[in-house]
Amino acid sequence: MSKPKVLLVLYSGGEHAKQESKMLGCVENELGIRQFIEEHGYELVTTTDKDREGSEFDQHLADAEIVITTPFFPAYLTRERIAKAPNLKIAITAGVGSDHVDLNAANERNISVLEVTGSNVQSVAEHAVMAMLILIRNYNIGHFQASSGTWDVAAVSKQAYDIEGKVIATVGAGRIGYRILERLVPFNPKKLLYYDYQPIPAAAEEKLNKASQLYNEVDTIVERVENLEELVAQADIVTINCPLHEQTKGLFDKALISKMKKGAYLVNTARGAICDADAVVEALESGHLAGYGGDVWNVQPAPADHVWRKMHNPYGPHYGNAMTLHVSGTSLDAQARYSAGVRNILDEYFSKSYNYRPQDVICIDGDYATKAYGQREKK
Ligand code: NAI
Repeated sequence: MSKPKVLLVLYSGGEHAKQESKMLGCVENELGIRQFIEEHGYELVTTTDKDREGSEFDQHLADAEIVITTPFFPAYLTRERIAKAPNLKIAITAGVGSDHVDLNAANERNISVLEVTGSNVQSVAEHAVMAMLILIRNYNIGHFQASSGTWDVAAVSKQAYDIEGKVIATVGAGRIGYRILERLVPFNPKKLLYYDYQPIPAAAEEKLNKASQLYNEVDTIVERVENLEELVAQADIVTINCPLHEQTKGLFDKALISKMKKGAYLVNTARGAICDADAVVEALESGHLAGYGGDVWNVQPAPADHVWRKMHNPYGPHYGNAMTLHVSGTSLDAQARYSAGVRNILDEYFSKSYNYRPQDVICIDGDYATKAYGQREKK
């Protein structure tokens, strides 16, 4: 009898994997879990081939019991693919964000979906603050001048500001959104606003207000805003930190972006499809947005001619563009954490105790176990 199968999809490490053994999240190093999986009597198939019709992913899905994927190099587990995976019992995300899995289809088939909650939230929060700084300080232009041998200070300073004194708003104030606010307090912003149907716990909000009283002599720095349009209308910088689900797909469309302040910055490290790609380009090119920064794309990998690669504000090339590949959550520190987290989930699965960390469980027993992927009635 053939062994039950674990199907793992990761990006290729190539020569970089040879240079750095800590890079666990690539196909060469397999999250460091091959031996562990084989010791439990399972066969491990690891691949990068996932997008084309008849890919290795498709072939092995036909008899895989466990699928492990990452958001950085997503193998889309669509309804159609789930229908062709009769043995599939559990889909694990090595990282955070399981929107590449059709969660409704997984629930219908009683497939458990888990992710390693918290494993890269600090990495993403750091990246989001970095993207804000890159945009608001107009970093790109100074950097390109430094490396190209020119010296035109005015070209940088004509669109460089400070975070201090600005209003910054997050859409989604969970683990990442909160950590971004937390990291911004020492910058002495004017206000930190948030929009989320789940309020920040009172003690956590109090912590930020206390820090602000201490460092900035401001009594209340954090405020919840119940209306999304009102939130974005007040902010100099908006950062998106909610999962991608039915209610957030295309949320930042032309209409919502038009409610943002003229000259505001938009940072999206959550998921590319939360923003309408063309609406972002239009707003940036017209100068309504001064900048857009993010490392998530509506299609991944993004094609070479994706409109977000070279978009810029009216000042010209590189102005107001802080795009990176989807890398914010895959620092080496994050890779160590999400690899360990995948092993923990597998341990619970293999032992049949299913005593998962509650925060890791997205779908189980045919229903959503989390409130983060949209407001819906419990079945
Ligand atoms: P979390 O579950 O701790 O927080 C998400 C928050 O978003 C929750 O408080 C939820 O209530 C809120 N939310 C959901 N729908 C909303 C809506 N329509 N409007 C406002 N708020 C809404 O999740 P965490 O860890 O903060 O991660 C958030 C997302 O960030 C992930 O789902 C993922 O898409 C993305 N992410 C990106 C990474 C990257 O490498 N770029 C890495 C990790 C996460």
